[in-house]
Amino acid sequence: MSRELSLAEVFQLGYYWETKILLTAVKLDVFSAIDERPKAVQDIAGRIQADEPTLALLLNALVAMKLLTKEGDLYGNSSASLKHLVRHSAQYVGHLLLLHDAEWNNWGQLEETIRTGRRAVDRHVFETDPELGSNVLAVLHRIGQQSGPDFAKRLKLTGSERLLDLGGGAGTNAIAFCQVYSELRATVLDLPATLKLTEKTIKDAGLESRITLYPGDFNRDQLGGPYDVVLMSDILHYQTFQMNQDLVKKAFESLAPGGRLIVKDRFLDEAGTGPAWTTAFTIHILVNTQHGSCYKCRDAMQWLTQSGFGSVVELEKTAVVQGVKP
Ligand SMILES: C[S@@+](CC[C@H](N)C(=O)[O-])C[C@H]1O[C@@H](n2cnc3c(N)ncnc32)[C@H](O)[C@@H]1O
Repeated sequence: MSRELSLAEVFQLGYYWETKILLTAVKLDVFSAIDERPKAVQDIAGRIQADEPTLALLLNALVAMKLLTKEGDLYGNSSASLKHLVRHSAQYVGHLLLLHDAEWNNWGQLEETIRTGRRAVDRHVFETDPELGSNVLAVLHRIGQQSGPDFAKRLKLTGSERLLDLGGGAGTNAIAFCQVYSELRATVLDLPATLKLTEKTIKDAGLESRITLYPGDFNRDQLGGPYDVVLMSDILHYQTFQMNQDLVKKAFESLAPGGRLIVKDRFLDEAGTGPAWTTAFTIHILVNTQHGSCYKCRDAMQWLTQSGFGSVVELEKTAVVQGVKP
């Protein structure tokens, strides 16, 4: 059995001040305003149009959080801030934090949501703010480029020639899969607004001749095909159980005999109490989507079996489920 939490740890779990200080600083773009050369508070306040004495309080807290340095009256970026929180840096991750900040008010309605079961929003971010959604996908793409090729290799897709990446986002998986399997061609189906980013990432990877963009809504439009592989990566938690059942059935119809459906998602374990990150992500999905949910591998296996797939397996624990079309 795991040990009991200390009182300090309980307090720590309820402590979000530093979180909101960081998110607000990113929203105000404090780090970009400071950039490479330390500056006085008057200068920073002028650049971001803030109240000088109030801003000084925020900057001092950021110094204590090791995100800024302070020498005399001058505030500078720490090396981590310079690398990840200044907008023109190639390794800027602020978009992800801006998403967290944009979702702040939804979290404020968690109590009401738990009491009534009613959601705080009526659409997810890719519909309400495609620009923010794409910026977040661009950050996740940079991070995902490191793990994508290993994922592709573990799936052992040698011999497959046609891949459909449903809700493929920035094309992270399609690109990695095409890089690993030289005979593979891919189609990325996603909402038209998202595909503007995808077009760029595919061009950057030099894969325009092997990856095709398919603008559409996977719940409404035909999927095309036949394909050897259909991938659904991190899309099903935005949808209801029935929408997922219908989409899996549609994927089945778009596959050639012998073709595989691979579903990668954040699944909960049987008890619903792990993996720990996914239990919190489930609440995030509850407050920030209209009807999304984190499901169990068992649910995904049921969607596949009921759609006609055979050899349905949990390929990777709480992460990947696969089925083969007979
Ligand atoms: C969390 S991202 C996952 C992106 C990618 N599959 C990955 O694993 O990196 C969810 C993607 O689903 C797309 N999406 C959501 N609803 C969709 C719909 N109804 N039709 C097509 N794409 C959709 C979004 O635009 C977004 O790119």
